[in-house]
Amino acid sequence: VKIVKVNLGKNCYEIKIGPGMLKRAGEELFKLGFRGQAVIISNPSIYSLWGEKASVSLKSAGFTVSAIEVPDGEEYKSLEQAGKLYEKMSQLQAERRTPVLALGGGVIGDLAGFVAATYMRGVPFIQLPTSLLAQVDSSAGGKVAVNHGKLKNIIGSFYQPGLVLADTETMKTLPSHEFINGMAEVIKYGVILDRDLFQKLEKGTTQLKTLDETLLEEIVSRSIGLKAGIVEKDERDTGMRNILNYGHTVGHAIETVSDLKIKHGNAVAVGMVAAGRISEKMGLLPHQETVRIESLILNTGLPVNIPGLEVSKILDAMEHDKKKYNGKVRFILLKTIGDALISDDVNMDLVEQTLRELL
Ligand SMILES: NC(=O)c1ccc[n+]([C@@H]2O[C@H](COP(=O)([O-])OP(=O)(O)OC[C@H]3O[C@@H](n4cnc5c(N)ncnc54)[C@H](O)[C@@H]3O)[C@@H](O)[C@H]2O)c1
Ligand SMILES: [Zn+2]
Repeated sequence: VKIVKVNLGKNCYEIKIGPGMLKRAGEELFKLGFRGQAVIISNPSIYSLWGEKASVSLKSAGFTVSAIEVPDGEEYKSLEQAGKLYEKMSQLQAERRTPVLALGGGVIGDLAGFVAATYMRGVPFIQLPTSLLAQVDSSAGGKVAVNHGKLKNIIGSFYQPGLVLADTETMKTLPSHEFINGMAEVIKYGVILDRDLFQKLEKGTTQLKTLDETLLEEIVSRSIGLKAGIVEKDERDTGMRNILNYGHTVGHAIETVSDLKIKHGNAVAVGMVAAGRISEKMGLLPHQETVRIESLILNTGLPVNIPGLEVSKILDAMEHDKKKYNGKVRFILLKTIGDALISDDVNMDLVEQTLRELL
């Protein structure tokens, strides 16, 4: 088991990573001082696979366990579902000290976190992430939200969990395309912050496909540890945390233009390739490094290009996004693998030229 501590002033919490963490949920919550009722929020497919492990553990530590299921899918990360959850929690007589446990991927984590942040002005929130993306990214950092209409994550808050238990065994039932989706974020951490992690991935991609336990634990804990380090420096995402958006400038635009039909990991993979090539064209990143990044992306099963999308539409979507950053399109560029910088002055002709190579 690996432990990552997140230090955010009064919000300090631990992320515990390893096989069998769900079986320890009960004792871990008990150690934190929780007693009485615990509410698990999940979806039917995840709950049928992993719910019993968590609930048996909680019951044997003396908790009364209630589970609430939300249908599977991004479209259920909504105010309407949040409303149903408030009602069920109130029927269960959940009160101020009742912990809400999110058992699932990023969708369940974001929705359950939003409900935990707002029900009775906030109840304790525990993350039990079961997708690779949730274990390496969404379960730590405190961003909770629901979508509204076509707007993603538009209603939300910063609300840190009290504990994150990432059971790496849950990867066994995760569909491989979902695993690969999460790997895009893992590659991202290596490229922007950790050359050694990048090299491990280069050597270990085949092992990962067969889910070597030790390597998996190492990769998840390194990734989430890197994220935690950045979140500690910039909890509210007003500066340094932007660096985690490497590959996401173009990636988000691709997702938008495809009407979210292209998966996040695939879009970010192509976005990472674009940011690498732009960095190279600007004389920042050596050519061999661009090649290494692209090979790792390909070997992981992610795309390096998405033919068929219109360059002009991607550029429009990026223009639309830029209001977030004082009217500039913000790129995360690379000096080398393991060292990134934030830039607001990338020449848009260079971006267009790069997109023509990739789309
Ligand atoms: N809060 C943040 O900081 C943050 C960061 C990144 C992404 N997100 C959000 O996360 C969401 C995407 O998360 P995701 O990729 O985990 O998607 P997801 O939650 O939809 O999970 C993907 C699929 O895998 C299934 N699944 C999950 N774990 C499983 C397991 N162990 N076995 C079998 N099936 C399993 C789910 O039921 C689902 O069908 C998006 O809504 C995104 O906005 C949030
Ligand atoms: Zn992402």
